[in-house]
Amino acid sequence: MVNFPDDFLWGAATSSHQVEGNNRNNDWWRWEKKAGLKDVSGQACRHYEFFKQDFDLAKALCHNTHRFSVEWSRIEPREGQFSPQELEHYVEVVDALRERGLTPVVTLHHFTNPVWFADMGGWESRQACRYFLRYAENVVDALSGKVHFWVTINEPLVYVFNSYMAGVWPPQKTSLLAAARVTDQMAAAHIRVYRLIHDIYRKKGLPAPAVSIAKNLRAFRACRGTLKNRCAAYLRNWTFNFNFLDRLNRQRCLDYIGVNYYTRDLADVRGWTPHHFAQDLCDQGHDPLPKNSLGWDIYPEGLYTLLVGLNKRYGLPVLISENGICTEDDNQRWEYIRQHLLKVHEAMASGVKVWGYLYWSLIDNFEWDKSFGPRFGLVEVDYASYQRRPRQSAAKFAAVCKTGTLE
Ligand code: FCB
Repeated sequence: MVNFPDDFLWGAATSSHQVEGNNRNNDWWRWEKKAGLKDVSGQACRHYEFFKQDFDLAKALCHNTHRFSVEWSRIEPREGQFSPQELEHYVEVVDALRERGLTPVVTLHHFTNPVWFADMGGWESRQACRYFLRYAENVVDALSGKVHFWVTINEPLVYVFNSYMAGVWPPQKTSLLAAARVTDQMAAAHIRVYRLIHDIYRKKGLPAPAVSIAKNLRAFRACRGTLKNRCAAYLRNWTFNFNFLDRLNRQRCLDYIGVNYYTRDLADVRGWTPHHFAQDLCDQGHDPLPKNSLGWDIYPEGLYTLLVGLNKRYGLPVLISENGICTEDDNQRWEYIRQHLLKVHEAMASGVKVWGYLYWSLIDNFEWDKSFGPRFGLVEVDYASYQRRPRQSAAKFAAVCKTGTLE
């Protein structure tokens, strides 16, 4: 049996476009139709209407924390036009959480952009930071008295990879130059918004907030331990896991590190170009591991190694801002949670300061280009009736949230 601290943050995460429904003014809404996705986000989970019921569920499941994202395209549907009603909506969301004893963790950017922003060049544009800063200022000003934990940008490098290198997400570019540029702009945007949030809190005489990004971390391992694959795994670990955080940390713009952890990548390099070193994965079934329903390897050990590595490098507290599994087998979901929590605990015993653990996701939702197929939720959503049904795994996780102990 292991024990977690009394003040540990327990809960789950969502993001606006994946659960709210009817986010008509963002680039994903437009792209889903153009790309001919089997199922477009449409009404998603109708969380925009049902957020109070969803938070009732989170409370009943003994969560004390909830992470969600503010939808920029609702707040600023046209350039420079801010919607007081939509700002008010998110004030209500935060109030609803607090009334239920749930600590809000607020994300400002979770993959989606307003259409007008995408059309003026999106994150490649020289204006990107300025616009994002102005949007952030509006939101932070409205929520500052009620929110302590902020995530400026969710998984910047996953966004860059899928949208500007692999070309699978809007705007579907495959340009290293564009990717480098967007990476730079997102780093700069975080740094500026980090300072902005701290300034706002200081001016209002509020206690200092905790601001970070949510960084997707992967365990990179070398297939068959060959030298070439070991080099690739080392390079990927450095460029994907640490380089971006290093930049923010050098500017002292991280109060903690938000960690999104899911899987391992088994590097197996089949050529000599940078592309091969950056992307090739083993497709021969070497070193097989159990997988989620999208085929991602399940590798709890990787979380331990990464947490210890982060601590050595930065010495900052960590919030597990996402960890989860899509599966049709709910027992497998609970096993996934249990094994990862044990690794979190082991890392804490080795001296890593972990503030909390947020499961991805509270409810089943729209999984980007994979539509509604993958089921990540603690709570099942019936997309015909929009009814919610907590799974067994949710009850087992609830027992841990309630007691702080795990068998
Ligand atoms: C993460 C994203 C989140 C969700 C999970 C499965 O990379 O942040 O929106 O799609 O993966």
